[in-house]
Amino acid sequence: MNVIETENITYYYEGAKTPSMKGVSISIRKGVKTVILGANGAGKSTLFYHFNGVVKPKEGVVKVMGEPVSYRKKGLTALRSRIAVVLQNPDDQVFGQTVETDIAYGPRNMKLPESEVKERVEEALFQTGLGDLRDKNTLQLSYGQRKRLALAGALAMKPEVLIMDEPTAGLDPQMALELMELAEQLHHMGTTIVISTHDVDLAYAWADEIHVLRRGELIFSGNSEDFYSDPMAVHSTGVMQPSMFVINNNLAAFRGEDPAPYPRTESQLVSKMVSGPKGRMTAIPVGTDTDAAALGRILDGRGDSKVGVFGTVSRRMMYDSSLPADYVFNGFESCMGECLMGRDSILVCDRDSISLIESKIQRLKDFGTEVGFEVRA
Ligand SMILES: Nc1ncnc2c1ncn2[C@@H]1O[C@H](COP(=O)(O)OP(=O)(O)OP(=O)(O)O)[C@@H](O)[C@H]1O
Ligand SMILES: [Mg+2]
Repeated sequence: MNVIETENITYYYEGAKTPSMKGVSISIRKGVKTVILGANGAGKSTLFYHFNGVVKPKEGVVKVMGEPVSYRKKGLTALRSRIAVVLQNPDDQVFGQTVETDIAYGPRNMKLPESEVKERVEEALFQTGLGDLRDKNTLQLSYGQRKRLALAGALAMKPEVLIMDEPTAGLDPQMALELMELAEQLHHMGTTIVISTHDVDLAYAWADEIHVLRRGELIFSGNSEDFYSDPMAVHSTGVMQPSMFVINNNLAAFRGEDPAPYPRTESQLVSKMVSGPKGRMTAIPVGTDTDAAALGRILDGRGDSKVGVFGTVSRRMMYDSSLPADYVFNGFESCMGECLMGRDSILVCDRDSISLIESKIQRLKDFGTEVGFEVRA
C-alpha cells in the first residue's frame, strides 16, 4: 500500500521561469524505510511541501492514503495529524513561546483532551532529550536544539508517516546517532519514515528504497545498489557512492568474490571478513519502570564483557543513574563488533526494541555470521 503518491506533479515558485518539480510521479510505500536523495536545489524540500499540502501542485495530483489531498483548512488539519513533516529549517516550524508550549501546539490543534496532550508532550520531551529545557524560551535555543524541538513537535502528533527533511544536518554526531536510532525504533513499531538527504552514507545505511531527484525530476526509484552501481547516474546527481559500498566492492574485487550480499553496516561488513568463534550477546531489556539499582547490580557482574546501550529509555536510565557503559552511542554495532571478535557483550536496550535487535542479528546470517543471543529475564 502507498501512504503517499504523486501523479505527474509540476510546480513553479512564484515568478520562477523553470519548474522546481517537473512531472514527478512517486510512491511512498507503507512501512518501507525511504530516502529522497538529491543535491542542493534538486527539489527535496519542495517535494515534501507537497506531501503535507503546504504547496499545491500547478499540475498533477497528490494522494495520501489513496485519497487526493483536500486543500481546505479542515482537510489540511486532518492530513497533518497523519503525515508529519519536520522541515529542514526549524525556524520555519518553531513558533511556541516555550519548548513545552511549542510541542503541545500540534496535539492541542487536534483537539485532544488535555491529559493526552500532556502525556504526548512528556514523551516527546523524553525522546528528544529536551526535558531540561522544557520552560526555555524558544528564541534562546541553539540551532540543534530548535531542530530537536521541531522533531519533538512532530513526534507528539504520533503520525502514521514521519517525514524528515535533512534530519541530521546541524545536529552533533551523538544527537544524529540518537535520532537515527529513534527513527529505527519508530519504523519497527510501524511508523513509515521518509528522510531526505544528500549524505549518501546515511542514506545507504538507512534506506530500503531510494528515490533520486535531479533538478526537479525523479530520475530513479528502487534499490540503493542498483543506483550506486551506475557511476554516471551517481555523478550527474551531484552525490558520491557511499563509502561502505565502495569498500565492499573493492574488497570483493580483491578477493575475486561476488560483492553481494551488500553490507550496509559495520557489523555486516566485518561479518563478511572474519571467521572463527564468536562471542555471545546478552540483552537486558529496560523500561521506564525498571529499577536502576537492580540494573546496576546486574551490570556489576559483567566481568570482562563490554556494555553497550540501545534506545532512548535505556540511554536515559544509564545516564541518570551513572551506570557503567562502554558504548553509550552506537551500542548495537559496537557490542556486535565485540562478539565478532570472539568476546561476549551486554546490550542494555529498550524493552520494545528486543525484536528489532533480534532481527538485526538474524540479518547477519546473510553475511555468514551466527552470534549467540539471549535476553536476560
Ligand atoms: N521560495 C522559493 N522561491 C523560489 N524558488 C525556490 C524557493 N524555494 C526553492 N526554490 C528553488 O526550487 C528548487 C528546489 O529547491 P528545494 O529547496 O526543494 O531543493 P532541495 O533539494 O531541498 O535543496 P537543499 O539540499 O539545498 O535543501 C531550487 O532551484 C530552488 O532555488
Ligand atoms: Mg531542502
